[in-house]
Amino acid sequence: MIGQKIGLIGGSGLYEIEGFEITREVAVSTPFGEPSAAYKIGELGGSEIAFLSRHGIPHSIPPHKVNYRANLWGLKSLGVERIISVSAVGGIAVEMNPGAIVILDQIIDMTFGARLSTFYDQDKVTHVDFTYPYCNDMRGPAVKAARDIGLSARESGAYICVNGPRLETAREIQFFSMIGADVVGMTAMPEAALARELEMCLLGISVVTNYAAGISGTKLTTTEVVETMKGSVEKIKSLLKAVIPHLPPVRACACKHALKDAEL
Ligand code: HPA
Repeated sequence: MIGQKIGLIGGSGLYEIEGFEITREVAVSTPFGEPSAAYKIGELGGSEIAFLSRHGIPHSIPPHKVNYRANLWGLKSLGVERIISVSAVGGIAVEMNPGAIVILDQIIDMTFGARLSTFYDQDKVTHVDFTYPYCNDMRGPAVKAARDIGLSARESGAYICVNGPRLETAREIQFFSMIGADVVGMTAMPEAALARELEMCLLGISVVTNYAAGISGTKLTTTEVVETMKGSVEKIKSLLKAVIPHLPPVRACACKHALKDAEL
């Protein structure tokens, strides 16, 4: 039997998942414009999945130009309540070596003002709680699933989101380290905040594709990012397959009621 519908957003190097059988593709139009691509609907781990390639097919939309509002709205309109977002990141903290997998728990947003980051910029004044940007009822099963399948994954991590598309300076990375960032990337925001505004649950899984600027002394390349991600696809796929059946069938988390008492 096919369970709940889960949204899966794939980032650089994760454009499709082998073993995920696509049964149909759905193009969605939203009041906020077009999502990055058509949603691929199929099954994985016993659940119906709506897969979206964040950067389009082929990869042509840079992180600062992704229409995050359309992507999230589109998922919601397909009946998705839970999202798993996979992203490539640069490693800042110790152990954040290329190939490491991180189950995210925090975000530091450095994109503020540069991206359309809310659904509430018209007539309603709404301040949604974002203390814990990722759903704990998804993080718990993800941590457990990783342990069950013997996958070495960091069980928490703070993602600092920059606007890009340029990579960082060495001193920026030093600063990010000082303020508590473990990994750096360009897409977690506003994706996570928009999911919360739509009262959707979000699980963020990052793959460290390179050492962040100035950490290893070698020049960073986009090829390295995509190749490392491709090399980690099998691990990500195993983790996804293991976690999906363990998500609680009914949502009992705070994400579901995120807008309660949020409006002025
Ligand atoms: N910096 C920012 N974004 C990234 C990086 C990085 O080093 N690697 C993958 N996405």
